[in-house]
Amino acid sequence: MEYSFSAELARQLDEEDILADFRDRFFIPEVNRREAIYFCGNSLGLQPKSTSAYLEAEMKVWREKAVDGHFRDADDNWYNYHKSMKGPMSKLVGAREAEVVPMNNLTTNLHLMLVTFYRPTAGRYKIICEAGAFPSDQYVIESQVKWHGFDPEEAVIEVGPRDGEFTLHDEDILEVIRKHGDSTALILFGGLQYYTGQLFDMQAITKAGHEAGTMVGFDLAHAVGNVPLQLHDWDVDFAVWCTYKYLNSGPGSMAGAFINESFAERPDLPRLAGWWGYDEKQRFKMEKGFIPSYGADGWRLANMNILSAAAVRASLQIFNEASMERLREKSVRLTGFMEFILEEIRKEHPIFRIITPADPEKRGCQLSLYFEKSAKAMFDSITENSVIADYRNPNVIRLAPVPLYNTFMDVFTLGVIIKNTVAQLENKA
Ligand SMILES: Cc1ncc(COP(=O)(O)O)c(C=O)c1O
Repeated sequence: MEYSFSAELARQLDEEDILADFRDRFFIPEVNRREAIYFCGNSLGLQPKSTSAYLEAEMKVWREKAVDGHFRDADDNWYNYHKSMKGPMSKLVGAREAEVVPMNNLTTNLHLMLVTFYRPTAGRYKIICEAGAFPSDQYVIESQVKWHGFDPEEAVIEVGPRDGEFTLHDEDILEVIRKHGDSTALILFGGLQYYTGQLFDMQAITKAGHEAGTMVGFDLAHAVGNVPLQLHDWDVDFAVWCTYKYLNSGPGSMAGAFINESFAERPDLPRLAGWWGYDEKQRFKMEKGFIPSYGADGWRLANMNILSAAAVRASLQIFNEASMERLREKSVRLTGFMEFILEEIRKEHPIFRIITPADPEKRGCQLSLYFEKSAKAMFDSITENSVIADYRNPNVIRLAPVPLYNTFMDVFTLGVIIKNTVAQLENKA
């Protein structure tokens, strides 16, 4: 697509955007009494206007039926509430319904998955992950390795960028898997790297891991609702994600997990069990001896947070209507427009560079800008101008134009603000 740094093009692209109406289904926050330009959906997605009604529906059931809410005569009573989420959730991650389950929080689910899928032995005990993984993932890995009596220094193998680079080469990842494969128990990668915005080739990593005899799992916090996923076809063993970023389900809202259906009837697999993972038909017999439910449901621990689940359901409804395919199409165009404008500015003022891969196939909507200098001054300036983005130490600004609610005009306006700020910073220097 041919871009230009112009308001006319932004206006035209917004007019042609078949998803443009979705913006109106979200509350846009204000900064300095002006509607914000929100590029922070990679951190916390905006609130859908429909969420309150979904919450209120469950508040009403609680008010009027109290405990009967669990088993009242409705398909989405609280006992079965998670089932109403499986269809749209499985579509988003490319899974069968039995393979997905909404539950807990992301870090909790990571631990639960490692209990099952990280089973180190004296000869096979390593975990391969990306260098600079999200800190919570690093702590999960470190603590699990120690829990099993291994030394993280030896057992954790990080794949890093080459000198002077920020992102990873596919062949370097595969090479590390080949080199350490026969002493590795688990490969755990972020599907889309939170800092650089790099989208990894999950299919290739899974294939290489399986050829080496390891389990393979992904943290999809930054991938779900951002890029199309095919977890089942890629034969991934497990995956986890949160719902408060691109899935717009509210701060700390409940997370999700994928467990490949090949493990659906494996009561022998070690797991941390709770009564909500028990075979649902027999759960209320309250008997001794854990019998897991079929599929991912067999990893549930506790009865679920219905208010949080209601917020997830509101969001899933929007994704169902918009469809991930159409969102991805717009996303590639919107992020491409942002990239073009930033590169135009950079030609004249090279104080930053985009460290996210230039290939749309290797990224989602997020672009990460690395500043040689003045990162904080730039961030303060865009904030002052009603842009909400995020800053990651020591000098990276992350910008996520989200196809559900961002416009091409948002991107153009950001470009003007950055261009003016760069000029001001240069004049000061
Ligand atoms: C990639 C990634 N993993 C894990 C987490 C931790 O999520 P939670 O606090 O929901 O467990 C985050 C949070 O932003 C994240 O971005």
